[in-house]
Amino acid sequence: MANNYKSVKGTKDLLPSESVRYRNLEGVIHGTMELWGYGEIRTPVFEDTSLFARSVGEESDIVTKQMYTFLDQSKNSLTLKPELTAPVMRAYLQHNLSRQGAMTKLYYMDTLFRQERPQAGRLRQFRQFGAEAIGSPHPEQDAEIITLVIRILDQLGIKNTTLHLNSIGSRESRKIYLKVLVEYLNDQNDQLSELSQSRLKKNPLRILDSKHPDEQKIIKEAPNILEHLSLEDIDHYGSVKEHLDMLDIDYSETPTLVRGLDYYTRTTFEITSPDVGAQSAICGGGRYDDLIGDLGGPSTPAVGFAAGVERIILALQQEELPLEKNSLIYIAAASNDARNRVFTLAEKLRANNVPVEFDTLHRSLKAQMRDANRMSAGKAVIIGDEELENNSAVVKDLSSGEQKKVSIDELNNYLLDG
Ligand code: HAM
Repeated sequence: MANNYKSVKGTKDLLPSESVRYRNLEGVIHGTMELWGYGEIRTPVFEDTSLFARSVGEESDIVTKQMYTFLDQSKNSLTLKPELTAPVMRAYLQHNLSRQGAMTKLYYMDTLFRQERPQAGRLRQFRQFGAEAIGSPHPEQDAEIITLVIRILDQLGIKNTTLHLNSIGSRESRKIYLKVLVEYLNDQNDQLSELSQSRLKKNPLRILDSKHPDEQKIIKEAPNILEHLSLEDIDHYGSVKEHLDMLDIDYSETPTLVRGLDYYTRTTFEITSPDVGAQSAICGGGRYDDLIGDLGGPSTPAVGFAAGVERIILALQQEELPLEKNSLIYIAAASNDARNRVFTLAEKLRANNVPVEFDTLHRSLKAQMRDANRMSAGKAVIIGDEELENNSAVVKDLSSGEQKKVSIDELNNYLLDG
């Protein structure tokens, strides 16, 4: 029969052999976030469209090209979340979380949607984990957030990463830089791509992020943002670097790192890995001191990051998972009469936390043993007519071939003892 259906472009199925990797990674993330004092937040799959337009930016690629936006039956415009900082800040304000203390530290692991051109490491439905520290304007908070993600990547075994660091200043001091930048780019206007020419009018900072080969020289020679920021911004940036130095965290200063979302102020950073292919950014983040105010809340400083789970898995794929000693027990029926005993015994052992497989296809003992080997079971428990009669089972170690008769009453303890 022909298979008429395939997963939608840019989405993928996770089969059991792959989902193990995701579960391992999720365990490390939950453990580390809790250790660092971040509490988990889960927000709905969709939000009002205007939340993203207001925060990520009307002119950003995400809002103009990538959002899955639809009208519901009541004609409300809703959007499947393309990022999590805005929904988390919406929830922070809605539930008045600031009342619980001067600092609010939240983390998430969630599924996002962006209609981008799919390629390795770039999906239309993908997963992120991230953290947001709300309340502190001080540089050690920026450095803590950056260190948190680096420690998680270390623990996951991701090597070979580069931390790119920059400051794009406060909104006020950025205005001065933007004037200088626009003047410079206006002079080069005829050499800019169509996209950059339109950005020059709407969002000139984004031109620094252009990957267009013909524009690299123009970008390289553009005025350096760090030379046009206020003294306070420069001090803040210097102190972020000092705090990273205190922990021996290396970084590469990248003055063109402006990020594709509009809410950033001061610190911006990205972590890249050459093991992921063209989409080398595995993590992005920064400070966004104006966002909560823009969403209607009291002016509140905040800083955060998000990392792409699929890209991290890609980077990890180079490394083999350590083989676990297989604790699976295969219970085999050596006669038809033994099948009911196998059926009830399997349930009883599972209730006692013994991982068990058995045959529901009425196959021969030989076929069942082949299946046990295929599943790499550690032991087989074999029950035939004789074992039924004297309430016992033969336990066979499938690597050594050793066999032992064990009474059914002792079986549970015998199997758990190894
Ligand atoms: P972002 O740079 O848009 O930042 O995304 C963060 C990470 O998500 C990227 O570095 C990448 O690893 C992953 N990612 C993004 N798009 C895709 C895609 N289409 N397929 C697979 N992975 C993808 C944000 O989302 C900000 N909210 C980060 C943040 C949190 N800033 C402050 N707090």
